[in-house]
Amino acid sequence: MADRYLNFTGTAPGRFLTRKLGLPQPSALRRWTPENPHLEGELLHLTAGVSAHEAEVASILTRTHLKLAKVPASSRPAAVILDATGISDTPALSDVHAALHPVVRSVADNGRVVVLGAPVSPSDHHQAAAQQALEGFVRSLGKELGRGRTATLVRMRSAAATESTLRFLLSPRSAYVSGQVIEVVGEAGPAASCDWDRPLSGRTALVTGAARGIGEAVAEVLARDGAHVVVLDVPSAQADLVRVADRLGGTALPLDITADDAGDRMASALAPGGLDILVHNAGITRDRKLANMPADRWNPVMDVNLTSVLRTTDALLKSGTLNRGGSIVATASIAGIAGNVGQTNYAASKAGIIGLVRSLAPGALAEYGVTVNAVAPGFIETRMTAAVPLFIREAGRRMNSLAQGGLPVDVAETTAWLSSAASGGVNGQVVRVCGQSLLGS
Ligand SMILES: NC(=O)c1ccc[n+]([C@@H]2O[C@H](COP(=O)([O-])OP(=O)(O)OC[C@H]3O[C@@H](n4cnc5c(N)ncnc54)[C@H](O)[C@@H]3O)[C@@H](O)[C@H]2O)c1
Repeated sequence: MADRYLNFTGTAPGRFLTRKLGLPQPSALRRWTPENPHLEGELLHLTAGVSAHEAEVASILTRTHLKLAKVPASSRPAAVILDATGISDTPALSDVHAALHPVVRSVADNGRVVVLGAPVSPSDHHQAAAQQALEGFVRSLGKELGRGRTATLVRMRSAAATESTLRFLLSPRSAYVSGQVIEVVGEAGPAASCDWDRPLSGRTALVTGAARGIGEAVAEVLARDGAHVVVLDVPSAQADLVRVADRLGGTALPLDITADDAGDRMASALAPGGLDILVHNAGITRDRKLANMPADRWNPVMDVNLTSVLRTTDALLKSGTLNRGGSIVATASIAGIAGNVGQTNYAASKAGIIGLVRSLAPGALAEYGVTVNAVAPGFIETRMTAAVPLFIREAGRRMNSLAQGGLPVDVAETTAWLSSAASGGVNGQVVRVCGQSLLGS
């Protein structure tokens, strides 16, 4: 369902009229294309306080496609990185203001502001107050920027482990990710041999619910980044599934994930090489207010969205099918964070995904060498959201800082970043792909 309002505000009369009427003014987002895979222009690297990571961060930034500057050289930087990792008390927060206040207005359309923070200390309440303050700062800035510009806070322990995350955030791949706080909990950097143009080369990925919608886009982006994709969907979707597999040079696996033996059947389909990337994307809705919801609308949602995710994850980990260095990415939803009328079942299942990810992540990394993260999509333009009544759909599209719905590819790009071996330092995170939705923010 085309977003006609977005198209209209892209025209001169549309811009004029919507400004006069005080209506939302979405800008067309710049996404990855083969012709324009990178953000171009100046990358301003600023520091607030004294950072122990400055030189290492600078060396990572020189490896992006942006032109590194320590002082504003052009009038419109494409991105600004503010290293605030050294801020350990609240007076130092004035450095954050001093660094960004003069340049924020000039950041180019579709540009990025990335603030680097340190983990919040459990034992130093002055450091904790100052570092937590950065969260409120970034979330507010994301709401102020407009014109397709985004703001993100990355809390890091080591610069090396943060490289894949910085590359993602400083690229068109993160167009619909804003107002987020991402913790890079690991310390190890990517392998020196990492091919940043095809970071998933040689990896095998299984994507559930891949016959259409977000799952199809995930399979497409993982294949673009070099993975061999095994696409799974219910047997009744086999024709679409085979079409997707053929287009991507992948393998179709028609299977209902709620089957008792689904985990074993996945494992045998993936033998002997095993699996590197497991994307739990399949999901269903059966909306109705709780008072009107019979058990036959509650149970299938729990079964598809949550119980089968737990069951198949356990089976694939225990059977050794998931290779060391691998990644699991599960699909939550902002409904699982904010709740939604008519979605007690769906929101419960998606909140359950968040619980699963946070609890499993440290142990899975220690025992199996596998990271576990979640994407939480907001309003994404799919068949699911096209079926939503017009006014609710319009509200869903506009109630975020970018004033538009995301596309399946936005969820796919985030999944690909989390799936890469270079992102091994990102574990137990729930990354919202929601344009900084006002829901649950
Ligand atoms: N579209 C959105 O705005 C949005 C927002 C938040 C979260 N999500 C989540 O993203 C995921 C994909 O959503 P979508 O919009 O692409 O949905 P969709 O309905 O277009 O696609 C879901 C796919 O999952 C498959 N599937 C359902 N039950 C299955 C089962 N038992 N076994 C195997 N496959 C099964 C379906 O056949 C379908 O192909 C879901 O988990 C959804 O809850 C979507």
